Amino acid sequence: MADESQKWVLMVTAQTPTNIAVIKYWGKRDENLILAINDSISVTLDPAHLCTTTTVAVSPAFNQDRMWLLGKEISLSGGRYQNCLREIRARANDVEDEKKGIKITKKDWENLRVHVASYNNFPTAAGLASSAAGFACLVYSLAKLMNVQEDNGRLSAIARQGSGSACRSLYGGFVKWVMGKEENGSDSIAVPLVDERHWDELVIIIAVVCSRQKETSSTSGMRETVETSALIEHRAKEVVPKRIIQMEEAIQKRDFATFTHLTCADSNQFHAVCLDTVNFLLNVSQILMVCLIFRIISCVEKWNRSEGTPQVAYTFDAGPNAVLIARNRTSTSLLLQRLLFHFPPNSETDLNSYVIGDKSLMEDIG
Ligand code: DP6
Repeated sequence: MADESQKWVLMVTAQTPTNIAVIKYWGKRDENLILAINDSISVTLDPAHLCTTTTVAVSPAFNQDRMWLLGKEISLSGGRYQNCLREIRARANDVEDEKKGIKITKKDWENLRVHVASYNNFPTAAGLASSAAGFACLVYSLAKLMNVQEDNGRLSAIARQGSGSACRSLYGGFVKWVMGKEENGSDSIAVPLVDERHWDELVIIIAVVCSRQKETSSTSGMRETVETSALIEHRAKEVVPKRIIQMEEAIQKRDFATFTHLTCADSNQFHAVCLDTVNFLLNVSQILMVCLIFRIISCVEKWNRSEGTPQVAYTFDAGPNAVLIARNRTSTSLLLQRLLFHFPPNSETDLNSYVIGDKSLMEDIG
């Protein structure tokens, strides 16, 4: 290793997109290892739009692990960060940078501390799966810095220990998180189903109903559901296993009608188990947002019915923002026109849409 007096810094920067579940993960069987009670399937978004950028640095001058999120220092003492750091360090290898005269051996990593700076190009913790992109990017960039040789599947099992949904962001396209059976979580990993080119006519629009921070974290929300909902067991054991098989088939065949049916039904059932959760309280502003959500659902449902074949699938995560998946560019333009008509800009129901995949569609319709 280089002389301690040489204050060198070695850095790696990575970008990871967020993902949106079409068959939801909700409920853990192990809170520390983050093991889910059911499989889930998601679509990874285009990295150009909703993603996290993380720079990790190592230097002998650093005397503790530190992290800054959006420029503000956050504590790394939480179990989730510690689990990710420990797992990556345990797999670190020799690193050599001849130009800088840096040589770090496997053993050195135990004593070297890292600094991490992370940015999201979208609102943090507003139900846009920021923790998914955040932990996936942290694990991926640390793995690059420390020359970890594991494949993305093994890295996904580490990202999962930061936030369950993060494991799915290690791959593009449609991704399945297999819940696994092992107590140590070794088989609870993400598996790519199809890559981003397989179904590239889909366009994803995120209508940002509210970009404020969520009031209840997914972690505590799903804990309450597992402890108190009478419906969750039926969902996890009976409903989701069948939906996973049907969804995989719909994705393989690019069957948009079945895909829409399953995506909307699963989003609605996820919200049904939330309603079935004791302590599921809404304040006035949340009730107004729920009304807005139902207006979006009703707008999409009516349109799909009037067309005969579904044009758009909707799905909502723990936050109030609508994720709308349109079958192609034509249905996206029509959807945007409808959204602008029903929720006019600068009105009380202005939806600040992110168009993932093709920003020019917003310009097309003025
Ligand atoms: C509704 O992955 O944020 O978005 O594992 O506790 O960090 P933790 O939860 P998180 O939960 C995501 C829940 C969801 C559905 C999904 O993404 O599958």
